[in-house]
Amino acid sequence: MKAIAITQPGGPEVLHLQERPQPMPAAHEVLIKVRASGLNRSDIGLREGQYGGTVAGVVPGLELAGEVVAVGSAAPRWRVGDKVCALVNEGAYAEYAVVDARHCLPIPAGWSVEDAASLPETTFTVWFNVFQTAGLQPGQTVLVHGGSSGIGLTLIQVAHALGSRVLATAGSADKCRSCEQYGAARCVNYKEEDFEAAFKDESIQVILDMVGGDYTAKNMRLLAPGGHLQYINAMQGPQVEINLFALMMKQLVLSGSMLKPQSADFKAALAAAVEEHVWPLAASGQLRPVIYQTFPLAEAAAAQQLLVSSAHIGKILLVNEA
Ligand SMILES: NC(=O)c1ccc[n+]([C@@H]2O[C@H](COP(=O)([O-])OP(=O)(O)OC[C@H]3O[C@@H](n4cnc5c(N)ncnc54)[C@H](OP(=O)(O)O)[C@@H]3O)[C@@H](O)[C@H]2O)c1
Repeated sequence: MKAIAITQPGGPEVLHLQERPQPMPAAHEVLIKVRASGLNRSDIGLREGQYGGTVAGVVPGLELAGEVVAVGSAAPRWRVGDKVCALVNEGAYAEYAVVDARHCLPIPAGWSVEDAASLPETTFTVWFNVFQTAGLQPGQTVLVHGGSSGIGLTLIQVAHALGSRVLATAGSADKCRSCEQYGAARCVNYKEEDFEAAFKDESIQVILDMVGGDYTAKNMRLLAPGGHLQYINAMQGPQVEINLFALMMKQLVLSGSMLKPQSADFKAALAAAVEEHVWPLAASGQLRPVIYQTFPLAEAAAAQQLLVSSAHIGKILLVNEA
């Protein structure tokens, strides 16, 4: 089979299309003929060697969708021919991938297999961080930075559908328009307006932040008493100074998580929760795919360059021939 491999840590030029042996599913796995895989920001960190460990030879890609073509003896839910999407630790930039059967979900009604490749990483991350950890409730207000990212647009749609007021920040008027089209009550273009001033009269219970840096103090000032600031990245920088009295005075909660290092059992439980709570929204059209551009597998380097440019709104996919 063909797969994109990282040949050494570096820029997009280190991604090479290679011939690899087709993997065999273990008892608890299924083998999927990949129709499409989704790009994620951490694919760039992996390629650049930011997370340590050996990256030479690794096939990137955290999510995929396609057709089950072989089933392990201990994977009773799936049959050959089933169409699924799945979360994986690596290996989605390929024609075939083996996946823990518990990390697969059916393609939601009304979604194409290709579009469903955009679902696993975003829905698992949003459900884990915003609903399970930060405990967002209907009627509460949530603010998401990076509103036009794959994560941001998923949060906006899911939280809006479940009865929250959603605020967002994004880096252009077009990006803000998209956030509002998909359900944000208001999106602030942070390049033209100070988001703290813009949202100072809101009562915000939850903030999902991927920026860090000087957003931290602003986020803490914006949160309502008892509010929860949840981190999933720190793109502007991880070293920040916080006022502990501000934390105490308002009884704020600051926490963060990374999905990839979670155990297989944790991800299986999360998959079940996502299927229960988010899949009905996907099937009803309240959560819609936002696909900015697709690339053939062989053009993974160009696809990643587009992601790094941050020109996109929503998701970028690699697509294999049917
Ligand atoms: N912890 C976890 O488990 C987990 C899981 C999945 C994703 N994530 C993180 O969640 C974020 C969204 O993921 P994604 O794949 O959906 O991202 P994405 O589509 O690549 O979008 C990220 C967006 O963030 C905005 N941004 C704001 N400040 C930035 C900065 N200083 N540098 C670069 N971009 C900046 C950019 O848009 P504008 O600046 O134009 O608004 C950019 O389009 C990423 O940071 C990713 O690493 C974390």
